[in-house]
Amino acid sequence: MAADPAVIVETAPAKVNLALHVVGREANGFHALETLAVFADAGDRLSVSPIAEGADRFTVQGPFSQDVPAGADNLVLKAVAAMRRLAVRGGLDIELEKHLPVASGIGGGSADAAALIRALCRMAGLNPFTGRVPGVAAWLGSDVPMCLRSQPVLARGRGEQLEPVDDFPALDAVLVNPGVGLRTADIFAALQNRDNARLDRLPDRRTPDAVLDWLAAARNDLEATAIGMEPAVARALWLIGGTEGCRLARMTGAGSTCFGLYAGAAEAEAAARDLADADPAWWVRTVRLGGAEPQRAAAAS
Ligand code: C5P
Repeated sequence: MAADPAVIVETAPAKVNLALHVVGREANGFHALETLAVFADAGDRLSVSPIAEGADRFTVQGPFSQDVPAGADNLVLKAVAAMRRLAVRGGLDIELEKHLPVASGIGGGSADAAALIRALCRMAGLNPFTGRVPGVAAWLGSDVPMCLRSQPVLARGRGEQLEPVDDFPALDAVLVNPGVGLRTADIFAALQNRDNARLDRLPDRRTPDAVLDWLAAARNDLEATAIGMEPAVARALWLIGGTEGCRLARMTGAGSTCFGLYAGAAEAEAAARDLADADPAWWVRTVRLGGAEPQRAAAAS
């Protein structure tokens, strides 16, 4: 059956902070960050279509649908409200397929909100990177602007100042969520050190080896605090780090998802099998991270 042309489908790729340095405090109370964020070829899936009359409809399906907040707290619904004056006429039928664990440091709600913004911009013929749209994205959350781009970026400020990173290599990775949710605000509030060293300059030649060497000297400054709150993060990192061929094990965002980087897809697949065996309750996925092209076209998985 042919796809309905009125239905706009966007993927919401998982975001991974390969490095995340906390380098001070902004005047607005947010923490000043320097982070290298990339996107995965796995994510949630959002379908949007106009409905002739009546109120918006919002339905959520998929393996993590039960964990999606309902009502005004939902970032997709907040994004609809914020975009209404810019790009929406009439009601909307919105379907979210939730494949990514929530409250887990991989973008989740931010990626869904960004996908909704891209869908509405496509519907209205608007460029999502000009005019008032980037401001709406930043207002919705610190990670929404980078998720709107869904391609490798260096982000500064509270996360909304973006510098796209060209020629970033594709990296084979395993994502592991140890089944515990961490609230970003709680992690930032409990931080002990807020003035850490900045990121080094990225290597000019961005081969996988050069990037891995650079990453080895970088950090996630939220990791120790997350481990203090949830020992499961330490266990995940320790087990990822012990898999054969693991080049780097680190937490993404404010946790609790952690990732391992590998030299190739076969190594990542083997590690994912071992990690899934280590704890059958964990969410474990092999993904490709980065790459030169936006990951938005990637199929949801
Ligand atoms: O921007 P977002 O809604 O994702 O942030 C959630 C919370 O995390 C903020 O309310 C703030 O407490 C904290 N945060 C921070 N500094 C940042 C980003 C988030 O303190 N750069």
